[in-house]
Amino acid sequence: MVGLPARGKTYVARKIARYLSWSGRRTRLFNAGDYRRVMLGAQHTHEFFSPENAEGKASRLAVAKAALDEMFKWLRLDGDVSIYDATNTTRARRDLIREQCESEGVRPLFVEIICTNEAEIEATIRETKVASPDYAFLSADEAVQDFRNRIAHYASAYEPVGEDEGDFIKYIDKGAKLILKNVHDDLGQQLVRFLLNLRGTRKSIWLTRHGESMWNRSNLIGGDPDLSPSGRIFADRLAEFVNEHEAMRDVVVWTSMLKRTIQTASKIARPQQVFHQLDEINAGICEGMSYADIRQKLPEEAVARARDKFRYRYPRGESYQDLIERVVPVVLAYEREPRPLLVVGHQAVLRVFYTYLMGASPEGCPHVSIPLHTLIELSPRIYDCSEERIALLQ
Ligand code: F6P
Repeated sequence: MVGLPARGKTYVARKIARYLSWSGRRTRLFNAGDYRRVMLGAQHTHEFFSPENAEGKASRLAVAKAALDEMFKWLRLDGDVSIYDATNTTRARRDLIREQCESEGVRPLFVEIICTNEAEIEATIRETKVASPDYAFLSADEAVQDFRNRIAHYASAYEPVGEDEGDFIKYIDKGAKLILKNVHDDLGQQLVRFLLNLRGTRKSIWLTRHGESMWNRSNLIGGDPDLSPSGRIFADRLAEFVNEHEAMRDVVVWTSMLKRTIQTASKIARPQQVFHQLDEINAGICEGMSYADIRQKLPEEAVARARDKFRYRYPRGESYQDLIERVVPVVLAYEREPRPLLVVGHQAVLRVFYTYLMGASPEGCPHVSIPLHTLIELSPRIYDCSEERIALLQ
C-alpha cells in the first residue's frame, strides 16, 4: 500500500485481504503501525514522524524492515499474497521494497490510495485515529490536532508513485477514478475488478433463507419447489418486519431465480433484483433426494462429502468451493451498492456470502448455521460487521 495517513489504506487493505482470502488465495496483512507499537511502544506524538527527526526516522526504518522480514518469511512458507500496509510515501522506501521483492522472487504491485475529499479525511481521523492506542493519553481534539501534524510531516516528504516505479494501481476518491499500469496477470486483474466495484459506502445488510418449501417439509434437497403454508406465513412476517423498520425504508431486495425466494420476497414493497448466482448449490445427481436416500443409494458420495464438505463436488453439480466462484458477481454488486440490502437466498449460497461479509475462513463455510425463518442483520463498523439474529417464526 502507498498513501498519506488517513486516506483509507487500512480499510482498502483489509477489504482486499478479505476478498482474496475468501477467493482461495492465502493472504495476510502486515501493518507497520502494529509493528511500531509492539517494537517501540504506542505513544508517539507527531514529532516522531517528522522527516527532520533523524532518530525517529531510523526507528521507523527499523520497524519497516522488521515488518518486511516477517512478511517475506511468511511468503516463503505459507503465503500467496501479502499486503504491506504502511505509508510507503517516499521513493526510497518503495525502492527498498522493490529490491527485496526482486531478490525474493516476489512480484511487487503498489496500490496507492489517494483521497482529495477533506470531509472524508476528517471522518477517518475521528473514527480510526482518536481511539488508537497512540493517543490513549490525549483528548479527542488534541489527538486530531496531533494526527493532522503527523499527516503534514508525511505530506512534506510525499512522492506519489511514478511511472518508472514498476506496476501500480492508483485508487482515487473511493474508486471514482482508477489509474493502472501493467496489471495484466490473474491476481492483478482480480484486484482491479474488485477495486472497480469497491465504493466504500457502509450500509446494513439483512440475510435470510426463503420460507419453508414443500421440499424442506420432506427433507429433499435442491429443486424448485413452492413455499409450504408455514413458508408463506414467514413471507408475510418478513414483509411486515420490513415495513416496521425505518432502517429498511430504502432497502433493495435481492433474490435467486428460484420460486421459493421470489415467493418469500413477493409481499415486500421494495425494489427487487433477481440474481441467478444466488441459486442454491446444484446437487447434481442428488437433486430431489433426501440425505437418507443419498446415504442409502450413493453411500460413497455421502462418505466423500462428510470427509471434505468444502471441496466435495456433487456428480454433475457443485461444491462449496465452486459456489464461491459463482457468488463473486454478488459480492462485487454488494461492494458497489450504496443502498441497504435484504438478500433472500438459500442455505449453502448464504453460507458462502456470509463468510465473505464476516471475513471468516472459507473452509469453514459449509458449517455456518443459517436456519430457516431467521433474519440475520449485519451492521457494518469501520473494519468489520456486528451481527444480530432475529427469529421471525418459531
Ligand atoms: O436442504 C435445503 C438446502 O438448501 C438444499 O437445497 C441444499 O442442497 C442444502 O440445503 C445445502 O446444505 P448442506 O450443504 O448442509 O447440505
